[in-house]
Amino acid sequence: MKKFLALLLASVMTMSLLTACGSKSAETETAATEEAAAETTEETAAEGAATSAALADGVLTVGTNAEFPPFEYVDDNGEPDGFDMALIKAIGEKLGVEVVIENMEFASLVSSIGSKIDVAIAGMTVTPERQETVNFSDSYYEAVQYVILPAESDIATADDLVGKTIGVQLGTTGDFIASDIADTTVSQYNKAVDAVNDLINGRVDCVIIDKNPALVFEAKFEGQVVAVEGAQFAFEPEEYAIAMPKDDAALAEQINAALAEIKADGTFDELVKTYIEAE
Ligand code: ARG
Repeated sequence: MKKFLALLLASVMTMSLLTACGSKSAETETAATEEAAAETTEETAAEGAATSAALADGVLTVGTNAEFPPFEYVDDNGEPDGFDMALIKAIGEKLGVEVVIENMEFASLVSSIGSKIDVAIAGMTVTPERQETVNFSDSYYEAVQYVILPAESDIATADDLVGKTIGVQLGTTGDFIASDIADTTVSQYNKAVDAVNDLINGRVDCVIIDKNPALVFEAKFEGQVVAVEGAQFAFEPEEYAIAMPKDDAALAEQINAALAEIKADGTFDELVKTYIEAE
């Protein structure tokens, strides 16, 4: 009887021990699985759960206008290059899709989204008018319009722009700002550099264009033109973002997640150093 009790006790103990172990390992397992799941969510945030129509074929077709250094320009090999090109390629890599660049007129970009191109990256400012047609990603760069003047010019304030002939790139925020100034003649160019050339030739009094391209042109035509800060003309700050189709929420989510990763892991700052600060 004693022996039997001892045996019983032993087996009960073993069983409870086993049960305890079992439940413990089950708990650990659950925790581990949850952790792994959390990690997966984090790691592949850019891949997202929902499917984007634009990404379904494994190719992201990106429109740009490579007339806007340092954000986009045609390099010595005839290829679109620059900050935006490097950024969208880094995003494509995060999303696991091939990036194909279509170089086109800036004014055609917004209307081509969802048909000819999936998205556009072109130093494009987020504006309420564009938001009626397209979705914008989180913004990735702050900009402002500058005024490029001939080396000798009396233009110094917003009032001085009244009644002037102003060169702009067609369909840009510089174009919109110039058109809002009283009595101006706005000369619209497909390529910003042509506006700057006409400034040098005396055909326009000034050129309104974004800060970084203005600085590039100032350096390129050193001694002939100067780039003046937009704040001096009371121009408001602008934000660049990637333009996307309105009806592809999954795409927006994935592009924003990729952009956030690129900012968090230092890639973004590297690109700024390489393309913008090295100007
Ligand atoms: N930021 C201005 C805009 O959105 C000018 C952009 C011009 N970009 C270009 N790639 N040409 O209107």
